Amino acid sequence: PVPKPLAGKRVLITAGPTHEPIDPVRYIANRSSGKQGFAIAAAAQAAGAEVILVSGPVDLGDPPGVTVRHVESARQMLEQVQAALPADIAIFAAAVADWRVANEGEQKLKKTSAGMPPLQLVENPDILATISKLPEKRPPLVIGFAAETEHLIDNAKSKLARKGCDWIVANDVSPATGVMGGDRNTVHLISKNAAKNGEITVDSWPVMTKEQVAIELVAHVAKS
Ligand code: C5P
Repeated sequence: PVPKPLAGKRVLITAGPTHEPIDPVRYIANRSSGKQGFAIAAAAQAAGAEVILVSGPVDLGDPPGVTVRHVESARQMLEQVQAALPADIAIFAAAVADWRVANEGEQKLKKTSAGMPPLQLVENPDILATISKLPEKRPPLVIGFAAETEHLIDNAKSKLARKGCDWIVANDVSPATGVMGGDRNTVHLISKNAAKNGEITVDSWPVMTKEQVAIELVAHVAKS
């Protein structure tokens, strides 16, 4: 029989970009493909977990056997994440837009002689930090991602502390790596060991496909 190390566990995963509306026909987005988060959802499902995947707009089919909630904006993603709790494990792989447009147009913005429309930005909720800091429903294991183009490990370590999560999967997304939208990923797993006085360890993995990263991450989760 196939081993099911996550049988009986409920795993909540976010994936993909968010779209932040400017007006009814325009939005702000980013280059996330959702591949890494979808691969983690598939790997967790294969490991026997009950998986809820909250995804922004992506060009990927729903992974079989996974409950998928499709959303567009960061605020909708937070709503669906909260609705999916409680969970044993939460993995936040989505590339959530940091900002949204404050003065979203109810109608399509038109060119006028007054020049370009001013776009006011406001901060989006931080889903990872919000869930990590929940007093009661915080999942026992919360994992975030850190996509950086410089000072990868240092930035990821401070992110771990600031967001209040347990592990960070740090990945280098400099354009030369081809990670954004590509099939491969080079990651470092940064974890806070509660049993060892909160000691932080960095585990650097070789370059792998996003599927292999997912399987490896799920194996670490199963061992934790
Ligand atoms: O701060 P930064 O966006 O680099 O943090 C990345 C991590 O935080 C990822 O796990 C991402 O899914 C999560 N995040 C979030 N909500 C936000 C911003 C980031 O859940 N608004």
